[in-house]
Amino acid sequence: MTDQTATSSSDGQSLTVRDNRTGQDYELPIVDGTIRGSDLAKIKAGDDGPALAVFDPGFINTASCRSAITYIDGDQGVLEYRGYPIEQLAEKSNYLEVAYLLVHGELPNKEQSDTWVHEITYHTFVHENVKTFMQGFRYDAHPMGMLLASVGALSTFYPESSNITDAGNRHMQIVRLIAKMPTLGAWAFRHAQGKPYVYPDNDLGYAANFLAMLFRMSEQRFEADERLIRALEVLFILHADHEQNCSTNAVRSVGSSQVDPYSAMTAGIAALYGPLHGGANEAVLRMLRRIGSIDKVPEFIEGVKAGKERLMGFGHRVYKNYDPRAKIIKQAAEDVFAVTGVNPLLKIAVELEKIALEDEYFVKRRLYPNVDFYSGLIYEALSFPPEMFTVLFAIPRTSGWLAQWLELVDDSDQKIARPKQIYTGPRKLDYVSCQERGG
Ligand code: ACO
Repeated sequence: MTDQTATSSSDGQSLTVRDNRTGQDYELPIVDGTIRGSDLAKIKAGDDGPALAVFDPGFINTASCRSAITYIDGDQGVLEYRGYPIEQLAEKSNYLEVAYLLVHGELPNKEQSDTWVHEITYHTFVHENVKTFMQGFRYDAHPMGMLLASVGALSTFYPESSNITDAGNRHMQIVRLIAKMPTLGAWAFRHAQGKPYVYPDNDLGYAANFLAMLFRMSEQRFEADERLIRALEVLFILHADHEQNCSTNAVRSVGSSQVDPYSAMTAGIAALYGPLHGGANEAVLRMLRRIGSIDKVPEFIEGVKAGKERLMGFGHRVYKNYDPRAKIIKQAAEDVFAVTGVNPLLKIAVELEKIALEDEYFVKRRLYPNVDFYSGLIYEALSFPPEMFTVLFAIPRTSGWLAQWLELVDDSDQKIARPKQIYTGPRKLDYVSCQERGG
């Protein structure tokens, strides 16, 4: 294996900056293609002046950490977990193995794999009080809101989890979280349907057990079609990590306060709940329904080009060539439809993709289908209502969040997350009592 690990020395590379306020030149080392914020802070208009800072809402061009977990090359359409291409992992691996890879940094040998699978399987059950707690939600509670609250509540069941300096203790909580997420997600789903919660079946694999907890009724054992189990495993692998996105950044930011991992994961779930992050596949379904039939596709595309709306499931902040996950997911969609029958919306989606990929508007702007273009169609074919889509994202993303949290905890460069601000409000006002303020 070639070692392509990034170095952290500047190798003599630097940036020369002249501060035109003072005429002074500064030489800032370039390390890993970045300059350090702390080096910029040495630049001041005068001895007592404020340090120069970067204004970067949304962290568009700010690296918050060094990370060895997930590599993305947006121009080339490359996604790798710990150096392994996503295409190979989706084809040859399974979700729990990928979770091990993300968390431990390398693929497990047979013994490590057996131990890991045993540990996760052993911890799928939750305390009965968690069930009572979840049953207390309103009948129409959003499953993602239930998941968010339940994961937060787990920290009260495992108070020792606050001891994040102990490696064995951290491992225990990681196992618990990966193991219990499908149970909590399935129970949130059953709650919305008014159906009894189904306990885990530890003789089943990770995805098969999840499907059983979702759909089992009176049968002794629920055994989903192997092709559906595999499709779900592939979807879980594709969603396991995506480097410093909004929810991962939330996990790292909250985790930097050294809170327990359950509370840090809750921040990630909350971020994923938002429509700009986890909700695009639901928007794709709404869009396809609105278009209604293939003959309306050209008219819809013209509306997009005229700037009246967006083609949901197209475009990506990072991928400007293609989203490697979208290709894999298209195959998974075909596998699922072979079992469930074709979702009538698929024809509209395929036509949209065909026209858009040939149209100059989309080609010029480098807009390609992203992971969400087909995932909603698959989830719908698997009988999930749209409210469950973000839950289906949060379950596999847990391993990525935990790997990132672990890396954060072990990283001596990291400090409590605390950005600067540019203050724009009034100053030095004199307090006037309420009576004197009139009105
Ligand atoms: N449909 C039509 N036009 C688009 C689309 C789209 N889906 N996406 C971008 N464009 C156009 C913009 O109008 C803009 O055109 P202009 O240069 O004439 O003004 C140009 O392409 C660049 O677009 P930006 O908004 O600057 O691209 P940005 O990188 O900020 O946005 C985003 C990326 C948010 C994903 C965007 O492509 C989008 O809104 N897509 C639809 C929503 C979606 O599918 N989101 C899921 C992303 S995957 C995920 O989060 C898991």
